[in-house]
This record gives sequence, structure tokens and C-alpha cells, in this order.
Amino acid sequence: MAANKKVLMLPGDGIGPEVMGEVRRIVDWMDSRRHVTFDLTEDIIGGGCIDAYNTPLKDETIEAAKSADAVLLGAVGGPKWDNVAFDIRPEAGLLRIRKDLGLFANLRPAIVFDALADASSLKREIVSGLDILIVRELTGGIYFGEPRGVEDLPGGGKKGYNTLVYTTPEVERIARVGFELAQKRGKKLCSIDKANVLESTKMWREEVDRIAPDYPDVELSHMLVDNAAMQLVRAPKQFDVIVTTNMFGDILSDCASMATGSLGMLPSASLGAPDASGRRHALYEPVHGTAPDIAGQGKANPLAMMLSFAMMLRYSFDMEEDAGLVETAVEAVLDAGLRTGDIMSSGKKLVSTTQMGEAVVAELDKRAA
Ligand code: IPM
Ligand code: MG
Repeated sequence: MAANKKVLMLPGDGIGPEVMGEVRRIVDWMDSRRHVTFDLTEDIIGGGCIDAYNTPLKDETIEAAKSADAVLLGAVGGPKWDNVAFDIRPEAGLLRIRKDLGLFANLRPAIVFDALADASSLKREIVSGLDILIVRELTGGIYFGEPRGVEDLPGGGKKGYNTLVYTTPEVERIARVGFELAQKRGKKLCSIDKANVLESTKMWREEVDRIAPDYPDVELSHMLVDNAAMQLVRAPKQFDVIVTTNMFGDILSDCASMATGSLGMLPSASLGAPDASGRRHALYEPVHGTAPDIAGQGKANPLAMMLSFAMMLRYSFDMEEDAGLVETAVEAVLDAGLRTGDIMSSGKKLVSTTQMGEAVVAELDKRAA
């Protein structure tokens, strides 16, 4: 029996708990069938935590996250907390856990499953076979730069400001993640910036160029973010790995998700730097939000959450075979025509969140029999 893997689950708000419930199904299955035991603990984050403790994230939860081998997160936020103070809004909890765990590398793959090529808002030929990986810098840039704030102007009115700042070590470490992942994939890296306007991203471009000679097998290109947004909907298959700043990555990953049919299909991994023993903090979460309009109705698509679990198996536990098993099971369920509402199209079978989860586990059973 392999050593216990300590996983902290933070289901969060809205559809978070529902989609997390489907991951528990896979965990139970793995516990009984694959001789891997997960030691699961659960805690709260986001709006639910504000309601109970007047903070979106407790210090104890940060400590638990640091001592876990991996964290699985659902989603945070919702209209109920629209009017709480800005520094304790649900999103602040998410930003804090990313920052406190040093999760600077956010991997957002956008893969089009063949069965879903028609669910995309883009034409089948544009998206079919698409497999790109967005590497988003996650603990710097304008999300965290100082100074920031809103001030009253002496003559009336206000001034709101944020700072886009990057340092050489910050750019270098995320660019290296991009180059290394490109080496394992299609050997193409596109760095996205706004170097024609913003000094900080001109410097980003220069730093990426500086380390490029360390990766002679990777073909590096640069693209301005406005053009990149256009290219992602015009011809997304030109990309292999994309590396970009925190905010550009936030925007471009939502954009890329539409190629795959639904935001409900996109998993993500947020990774820290390995320590001397090779151990690193990691958090896995779907790219989608809390979808308050459908929360609690059994309509949510659990696949991004289940695919985030697969990323956890791959990146935190080196369980490539099991990760592949989960991904293949998801693909088989889609091939069989099962669809939640977000990816529904005519002739397919509309299923609930739990039916989708059960179907994935049934496929796992077939494959590991
Ligand atoms: C994301 C989300 C978050 C972000 C929000 C909820 C703070 O949009 O993970 O993409 O902007 O990073
Ligand atoms: Mg986002």
C-alpha cells in the first residue's frame, strides 16, 4: 500500500461543493481499486467562511494547506457577498492562499475533446484537436503590485490605482516553467505581453529572451496581448505553450476555454517552487466560478473539477497512469453522448452532476477491471 497522500479539500461556494462531491467518488474508487489511499480533510474558504468567521480564509486553513501534499479547491464567491468589505471579499481568500503558498505557476490546459468540437462557439475545423497550455504567472503583476488603492482627490472625485510590477526572478522562474513544459510537448513557447506600451512587460520580454538560449530545442515567439486574444479565436491551434502575466493569463484563459465548449471543462494546477527535498505546494482548481444561478440544482458540470483531480495525480503524486485513466474515462463519457447543460447539444443525453460523476466512475471500472 502506497503512503497516504494528504489532500486538503476546499469546496468553497456555489457549485463548488457539488463538483467536489464527484471528486470524492473518484477518490473512493481509487482507495478501493488502485491501492492508493488519500487522507482527505475538508475546510472552508470564501463566502461560507466570511459568514462563519468574518474572513474569507482562516490562518489555520493556510497552515493546513501548507502541510498537505496538495489542495483541491472548488470555487469561491457569489452575489451574496457583493457588498462585503473589499479586503475580506471571497476572492481575497483565493488570492491569499495562492500568495501564501507561493503558487506562482498556474497551468491552464485547454484541450478540445473530439466529442465536444461541435459544442464550441468556434467552428469545428478551428478547434478540433486543439491542445494548448496556458502558463499564467499567479503571484505577481498587477494583482499584487503596490501601491494600490482608491483615494479621494482634494478637488472632489477619486483616484483609483494599481501597479503592474515584475522583477527579473519572477519573470525568469515562470518563463522557465513555460520552456520546460514546451520541451515536454510541442516545443513551441509563445510569450504574451504588451511590450509596445508597458515598460514592465517590455522588460518581461527581454528577460524571456535572455534565458531562451538555455532551451535551444524550444522555438520561442512573442506576441502582443491584443493580437493574442484575436489569434486565440482566429487560429488557436498555432499555439502550443503560452506564458504570460497574471492578468493577461486570467483573461486569455477564459477566452481559450470557449474553444473547448465550456468553461466547465477547464482544469488548472497552481504550483510553487520545489524545496530542497523536491516537495512543492500545489493547488488544483477548475477555471470556472461558482455559477450561483445553477448552484444546488444538480446541473453543474463536474468534469473540470474531476480533470483538476487528474492534474493533481500527475503533478503532485507522479501518478501519470492514473491521471491518464481519469482523463480517458472523461473522454469516454463524452463519446457516449452524456452532457451536462453547459455542453448540451441536440441528440445528446442531458445528465445531472451526479449522473456525470457516476458515469466517469463506471468508465474507470471498465478500464481497470
Ligand atoms: C481565476 C479567477 C480569479 C482570478 C478570481 C476569482 C480572483 O478569475 O482564477 O481566473 O482572477 O485569478
Ligand atoms: Mg479568471
